[in-house]
Amino acid sequence: TRSIDLAVIPGDGIGPEVVTEAVKVLRRVAEGAGVDLQLTEYDLGANHWLETGEVLNEDTLAAIRQHEVILFGAVGAAPGDTRIPSGLIERELLLKLRFTLDHFVNLRPSKLYSGVPSPLANPGDIDFVVVREGTEGPYVGNGGALRVGTPHEIATEVSVNTAHGVERVVRDAFSRASRRERKKVTLVHKHNVLVHAGHLWRRTVEAVAAEFPDVSHDYMHVDAATIFMTTDPARFDVIVTDNLFGDILTDLAGAITGGIGLAASGNINMDRTEPSMFEPVHGSAPDIAGQQKADPTAAILSVALLLEHVGLPDAARAVERAVEEDITSRAELTDVRTTVEIGDAIVSLVA
Ligand code: NAD
Ligand code: IPM
Ligand code: MN
Repeated sequence: TRSIDLAVIPGDGIGPEVVTEAVKVLRRVAEGAGVDLQLTEYDLGANHWLETGEVLNEDTLAAIRQHEVILFGAVGAAPGDTRIPSGLIERELLLKLRFTLDHFVNLRPSKLYSGVPSPLANPGDIDFVVVREGTEGPYVGNGGALRVGTPHEIATEVSVNTAHGVERVVRDAFSRASRRERKKVTLVHKHNVLVHAGHLWRRTVEAVAAEFPDVSHDYMHVDAATIFMTTDPARFDVIVTDNLFGDILTDLAGAITGGIGLAASGNINMDRTEPSMFEPVHGSAPDIAGQQKADPTAAILSVALLLEHVGLPDAARAVERAVEEDITSRAELTDVRTTVEIGDAIVSLVA
C-alpha cells in the first residue's frame, strides 16, 4: 500500500492549533484513500528555544531530512516577548529549512472561492498563483552593520540573485503556466531601480520564454503590481518574482481572496532531492493565539498542496472540494466558529 512518511512541525502561537486540524483532515483523507500515514512530530519553535537554548540542532535537521515531506505550522514569538531575539526562530528554523532543503519554488496560489467576501468592490474572477523564489534574494543573510548605535551606523542586506537560482524558478513558472488555461507569466520586479538583479530576471524570462511558445509573458514593477492586485487581480495568471517581493505580494493576495486565514503555500524542491514543506502563508498570530480564533483553512489547503506533491491528486481534490463546500456555506453562518469547529466541518465534508 501507498504510504506517506510525514514530519510535522507545529511551531508557535496558532501554529499548533491549525496544524491539529490539518492533520485531522489528512488522516481522514489518507484513511479514505487507503494510504498509510506515518507521522513524526518535532517540537520546535520559541518554547523549545526557551527550554533548551537550541533552535534546530544538526541531529534534528538530519532526522527531518529523512522524511518524505513536511507539514509546518508557523513560528514567531509574541511582539512583547523580549526574551526571544527578533527573527531568531524565523531565520534559524523556517528559513534554515527552506535554504537547506533547497525549496526554490515557494508556491502560493490565490483563488477567490464563490461565497467568500473580498474586501474589493469588484474582485472579479481571481485565480492566480505566485511562484516566489525561495532560496535567494535579500533573505540570504548577506549583510552586516558597521558603527552600530552611532550616528554613522551603516546597515546592509545584500540581495543575492544567481543565474542558476533565477533560471530554475522562472522555468518552473513557465512550466506551470503552460499547464494552466490562460498560459500567462507576469514577471514582477523593480528593474527601474534594482538594475543588476532586475536585468538578470528580465533576460532570464526572455530566454526561458523562447522554450514555451504557447505561454505569453509580461512585466510589471512591484509597486504597480500592488495597484493591479487591488484594482484588477483577475488579470494575473502566474506571477514569478523574487523572495521579498513574493512575501509581500502574497499577504496582499491573501487579503483580497478572503483573508490570510485561507492562504496556503508549498516550499517545493522541484528536483525532489530533499523533502518539500507545506505551510499556511500566515504567521503565529500572537494576537489571537490560544483562543481558538484561528482559521485552519490555510493549513488544510496546504495539505491539499502536499497531497498533490506526493502524487495523490485525487486526495488533494477531495480536500479542496471539502474546503470549497465549507467555505461556500460560511456566507450563511451567523456564528463565528472555533478553529476546531471549522476543522471538524471540513473533516465531515471529505468524501
Ligand atoms: P501573522 O500572519 O501572524 O498575523 C497577521 C494578522 O493576521 C493578525 O491579525 C492575525 O491574527 C491574522 N491571522 C493570521 N493567521 C490567521 C488565521 N489562520 N486565522 C485568522 N486570522 C489570522 O503575521 P505577523 O503578525 O506579522 O507575525 C506574527 C509572527 O509570526 C511574527 O513573529 C512573524 O515573524 C511570524 N511569521 C511567521 C510565519 C511562518 O512561520 N511562516 C509567517 C509570517 C509571520
Ligand atoms: C512567510 C513569512 C516568512 C517569510 C518569515 C516568517 C521568515 O513571512 O512565510 O511569508 O518572510 O518568508
Ligand atoms: Mn510572509
